[in-house]
Amino acid sequence: MDLQAAKRVKELHSLLNQYNYEYHVLDQPTVPDAEYDQLLAELIKLEEQYPQLKTPDSPTERVGGAVLEMFEKVEHRTQMLSLTNAFTENDLRDFDRRVHQAVEEDFSYVCELKIDGLAVSLRYENGVFIQGSTRGDGMVGENITANLKTIGSIPLRLNKAVSIEVRGEAYMPKRSFELLNKTREQKGEEPFANPRNAAAGSLRQLDPRIAASRNLDIFVYAIADDANIGVLTHSEGLDFLDTLGFKTNKERKKFKDIDDVLQYIEEWTEKRGNLPYEIDGIVIKVDSLAQQEELGATAKSPRWAIAYKFPAEEVVTVLEDIELNVGRTGVITPTATLAPVRIAGTTVQRASLHNEDLIREKDIKIGDYVVVKKAGDIIPEVVNVLIDRRTGDEKDFHMPKQCPACESDVVRLDGEVALRCINPKCPAQIQEGLIHFVSRNAMNIEGLGEKVISQLFHERLVKDVADLYKLTAEQLLHLERMGEKSVQNLLNAIEASKGNSLERLLFGLGIRHVGEKAAKTLAQHFLTIDSLMKATVEDLLAINEIGEKMADSIVTFFEKEEVIELMKELKAANVNMEYNGPLPISAEESDSFFIGKTIVLTGKLQQLTRNEAKERLEALGGKVSGSVSKKTDLVVAGTDAGSKLKKAQSLGIEVWNEERLLEKLNK
Ligand code: IVH
Repeated sequence: MDLQAAKRVKELHSLLNQYNYEYHVLDQPTVPDAEYDQLLAELIKLEEQYPQLKTPDSPTERVGGAVLEMFEKVEHRTQMLSLTNAFTENDLRDFDRRVHQAVEEDFSYVCELKIDGLAVSLRYENGVFIQGSTRGDGMVGENITANLKTIGSIPLRLNKAVSIEVRGEAYMPKRSFELLNKTREQKGEEPFANPRNAAAGSLRQLDPRIAASRNLDIFVYAIADDANIGVLTHSEGLDFLDTLGFKTNKERKKFKDIDDVLQYIEEWTEKRGNLPYEIDGIVIKVDSLAQQEELGATAKSPRWAIAYKFPAEEVVTVLEDIELNVGRTGVITPTATLAPVRIAGTTVQRASLHNEDLIREKDIKIGDYVVVKKAGDIIPEVVNVLIDRRTGDEKDFHMPKQCPACESDVVRLDGEVALRCINPKCPAQIQEGLIHFVSRNAMNIEGLGEKVISQLFHERLVKDVADLYKLTAEQLLHLERMGEKSVQNLLNAIEASKGNSLERLLFGLGIRHVGEKAAKTLAQHFLTIDSLMKATVEDLLAINEIGEKMADSIVTFFEKEEVIELMKELKAANVNMEYNGPLPISAEESDSFFIGKTIVLTGKLQQLTRNEAKERLEALGGKVSGSVSKKTDLVVAGTDAGSKLKKAQSLGIEVWNEERLLEKLNK
């Protein structure tokens, strides 16, 4: 090996790590970006030349490595607890009382900002970052190491060769969030509702280059394991994390008295808007680790900490008008159009008013000043009207007698609050139906957003779902904001959707009462659209999960001339109409070998992808886990299996090869 190269690689690691730390953790860069990029390029080149010099902690990992097939499951070594919430001063005083009762001696609280992102766990072995995972259900999360390595403030190598697991909150700074949403909107993509969703969405991508492009950040807030580092308090632990090279939040403060805690909360309620990242509350923790232990935890959360949640941000704006939207099933929904206001990170201009009853109940008139908030921090909602600010010019609102899209008479079906347009040819319903057909859980055609669909519909290029499969590059190139690349991507996505398994098509068709789950049951039962189309109400009712309403709706749907015609057209376009997923366990098979067994797949499988193997095992009642433990019943090892196989052997767990698995699966 070239010693010179090895030496330079080491130097580059150290320089890049230092510059990276100064930039991302200290926020004090000492070299221009171009210099960092140059050194990184040099390292990439050296690693290409001498692949044996590439290590898992190399700074080149930050640009995002290979695309993954799926995220493996990770069993947390210590449970990832969450916190009990407090919403009022009273809740906090109750908490304080409980702590006083349990801890007799003197104690202190540490108050921290509650960062609004997603919890992650980071494991280091001898100072090297080896695994990062999501919280999941607290016991088992997903392995998102490759994505987390792209976060500049996560050290790939610590300043000391310690083995430690830490927890923190990955988040997207406000500024990155705004820029991201702006570009998404320019590209006709749906913007994220808030920075938390954007961060979570970025870390759940299988292609780490996407996370690398999203400017994510992290604050580490706890040591998860008993790392034997000799600290006695939580705050000493955080100081220690600083010395290791982690980024912790510096606004933390220690108090003895709950009144001072309340004061800190009040200050941050005022100041939170000025922070460059979103916080959704304040976390209060008992500082002494011995006292934490004394207080203990319930099944879900520690008794030594509590999260005060800020009330949802409420703003006042003018309700300028009430628009009517016709949904896929003909339901007419009144929507408030608002004078634009910023709430929790995004500009809000619309809020659903659901139905006429709600408008009466809240006494909403057009022109009113209204209080608006985001329910669950996502969906804008009109909270109430400021009656005192009425001038007398406000106008009453009444639901229409005709459909705003097709002008046919609207009806109120028995037992429903909603008004409906029941004209099957209503253009608004057709358009919404198209949007549903291409949506993620249906045919999943990426690049066909609402705006593109609306253009296609209005240009009369698409009048039903079969027309989507007749689109040509020339037609698409004429649409707004469609370049050659996006047209090609879209055509590829349309082509790929032809191979979808039957349940996606069934769900996408929007048959009334047939949701995603029912679509899957139907597909698994009938296997082809032809046999489903032949099914009678009795045939359908023979299936456990299908009731009368759904059975009627399915039969009526497939009797329609235009539906029969549509199916022919889809078939002619080569759209797959068969179920190609795993079959559910039938009664005869219910003594299947895999039921209740925990299976770990490791190494490269030749005939199945990991995902296929997982789906098939799960369909037979097995549980597929990402890590080997005493609870593992079976390990299936493909070629090049490594540490998991070794661990299985050392624990005496049964190990199969792929052939044996296939044999059993195909039985
Ligand atoms: S401590 C066992 N500290 O809030 C205690 N959590 O349920 C673990 N969070 O899941 C949490 N900022 O994702 C802690 N400074 C902070 C935090 C924080 C944000 C999140 C975390 C947790 C949730 C509370």
